[in-house]
This record gives sequence, structure tokens and C-alpha cells, in this order.
Amino acid sequence: MRQTLLQAAPAPATAPAARDEEYWEVVKRQFPLDEGVLYLNAANVCPASRGVLDRHLEYLRDFQANPSFQNREKYEPLAERARAKAARLLGANKDEIAFMRNTSEGSNLIVRGIDLKAGDEVVITAHNHPSNNDSWKVLAKRIGIVIKEVPATIPAVSRQDLFEGVEKAVTARTRVIAVTHCTSTTGVAYPAREIAELARRRNIWMHLDGAQTLGAFDVNVGEIGCDSYAGSSHKWMMGPLEAGILYVRAARIAELWPSVVTAGWAENLVGARKFEVFGQRDNPRLVAVEAALDFLELIGMPRIEARMKALATRAKVQLREIGGVELKTNVEPELSGGVIKFNLRKHEPKAAYDMLWKSHRLAIAQTAAGDAKGLRFSPHIYNTMEEIDRAVAAVKEIAG
Ligand SMILES: Cc1ncc(COP(=O)(O)O)c(C=O)c1O
Repeated sequence: MRQTLLQAAPAPATAPAARDEEYWEVVKRQFPLDEGVLYLNAANVCPASRGVLDRHLEYLRDFQANPSFQNREKYEPLAERARAKAARLLGANKDEIAFMRNTSEGSNLIVRGIDLKAGDEVVITAHNHPSNNDSWKVLAKRIGIVIKEVPATIPAVSRQDLFEGVEKAVTARTRVIAVTHCTSTTGVAYPAREIAELARRRNIWMHLDGAQTLGAFDVNVGEIGCDSYAGSSHKWMMGPLEAGILYVRAARIAELWPSVVTAGWAENLVGARKFEVFGQRDNPRLVAVEAALDFLELIGMPRIEARMKALATRAKVQLREIGGVELKTNVEPELSGGVIKFNLRKHEPKAAYDMLWKSHRLAIAQTAAGDAKGLRFSPHIYNTMEEIDRAVAAVKEIAG
């Protein structure tokens, strides 16, 4: 049975435990990561596994060796197979899935596609990514919609508090609630299901930015009840660059306008396919997306989520013990994902980021200013517990 969104993920009875290091060492070997780099930046870009890379290259060569219409006939059925697997991953129907370039494109399609007019209100949160925040603000300038931005408390107080922040911003004029499933700023997991329920009761469109949960959480969009969900293949899904998945709930597809209309429009009106009529596609890339979906399914999303969270928790509990470290991310499982943000009292983030790269080849991210200021760790299943300990030790060395 699929886990519900907000519960911890129990591994299947026959699966290795989340901490079975031998099993995860084998998983790690599936990635051609440079052994000299300690890579903890899944929230930005994940490496693709060898199987995904091989399949991508195989089909790139196939396409370029013979770009004839005849050779390319096979790509549409392959894309449809990938669509069915994306739907299975997310608990959706295949007609509810469209292939985008990334989360940004998926979220912007929602921003521009809902038929809004001046005075309509959109609720966002301060820690949404610009693709689901500045995009709404640009639309507000253009057509006069009203943006209600819910502030972020760091660390989050509780799921109830996150929910109430959104609830209080809703009025009779609210047409859209656009939130982030797990933020890239401080890694807070929002109570998506409760917010979607609120939206559904009031016929408000609920858009969920899944950039930090697609391939990281065992997401079931049907159980969450959101109207749309956007994610990138090149983050936690460990798929090819510039590929993304957009889910639009069947009942909402008819009312959403496409962003691009070109050749293929008339033939592609079944379900969410109408949102991906982008002209000539990079067909081999979609084959690689299918391979990435296969890899997730092979390990199993409950196991992936449990392992990813075990790695993140290990980092957080150690970091918060270091004097000179201010942990900005919640440790409570119900408020957490794979993103970890912390500040060093002794060093500015950019200086610490440079030192850690220079001394330990620690590849992370940093935010120079603002309330999310700090260093960001985001480990995934190709990392080991030993790597987490090494990364924390490197921070301890400079934290003073
Ligand atoms: C929460 C969130 N949304 C959207 C994006 C944009 O992702 P992409 O650049 O793949 O479109 C990111 C990127 O880090 C993100 O963290």
C-alpha cells in the first residue's frame, strides 16, 4: 500500500533496512560520480545513474545516425510508455501527465494557463521558488491579479501553523493557492494534503511545486488532492537535464490554457498532452526519462524516501550539536525532506562554501543573504552515511 504523504515511509518487509550500508554501496556504484567529490547538492542537480546515461546515449546515437521519419516512428510509443510510468510513480492517470523542460516551465504553464482576471487573488508563500512566486507577481503587474504572500517562520512552528498561515490568507476572491511541497530555502515540508483539501472545498486551484519532492518523496497526487504538480527530472529523480513532469488533475485540464501552440496541436488534444505541443522535441531525452522512472521503481519510492530522510536526519542531528552552527531546517520528520540549511556564525556563507570546496571538495549550495542565508546540504541515495559524517566533520573544522 502506498504511504500517505505525511507519514514516515515504512520499507517493504523484504527490503533491506534504510541503514543497510552494503545495499546502498551497490546503489552508489550505479552512479559515475567523481570519487574525489563529496556531492551533496541533489536539490539543485542530481547525477544520472549509469543505466540512465547509457540509454540516453544509445538513443541519442540512434536518432542522430538516422533522423528519418521512419526511424523516429518508435519515439512516440516510447514517450507514451514513459508517460504511463510517470503516472504510476505519482498515482495519476497517464492522460494527466505532460512532459515539460523543468519545474519552472510546468509552474509557469499553470501561472499563464488559468483564466484569471483583475481582482482575482492568488495565495503564495514567501519561500516559494521564483518560478512559482515572481511568475505570479509578473502576472499581477500585467493583468491586475492580487498576490497574498504568506510569510515564512524559520524554523517552521508546526504543520498546523503552516496550514493556518495559508488558510488566513484565503478570501472569497481567492482563485489559486500555489505552495511548495518542500522548500529549497530551508527545507520545510508543507502540509500539502490539508491545503489541497481546503482549496477543494472552496473550488480554488491548488498548485504544488514538487521540485524538491519528485523522486524524493513517495508522492501520490491523487491522495494529496492538488490540481497540479510540477517537478524536474534532473533533480531527485536522477534523470536527464531539461526534462520535467507536469501533472494536471483530469477535471481541471479543460479549463487550463496551453502556453505554446504549434504543429501537432490538432492531434494532441487528449488530456494533458495539449500542454506539451512544443514543436520538435528532444525524443532521446524522453527515453532517458523513462529509464530514470524505471530506476526509481526498481529501488522503490518508499525505500528511496526512507533512505534520503535517514541521510538528512543524520546530518541535521550532528550539525545542530556543533557550536557555531545555526540549523535553520526542522528536524521533525513531518516537517522535513532532504534539504538542510544552516548558518555558520563565524563565516559568511560564500566564504565557508569556498573553504569547504577547496579543502574537502564538498559540493553544496549557499545563499548569501536574506532569511534563508546559509549553507545547504541535500544528500540523496548515492550518498553514504560515511559521506554525511565526513561532510559534517568538515563543517566542524571551520565552525570554530
Ligand atoms: C522549489 C523549487 N521550485 C522550482 C525550481 C526550479 O527548478 P528548475 O530550474 O529545474 O526549473 C527549483 C530549483 O531549485 C526549486 O527548488
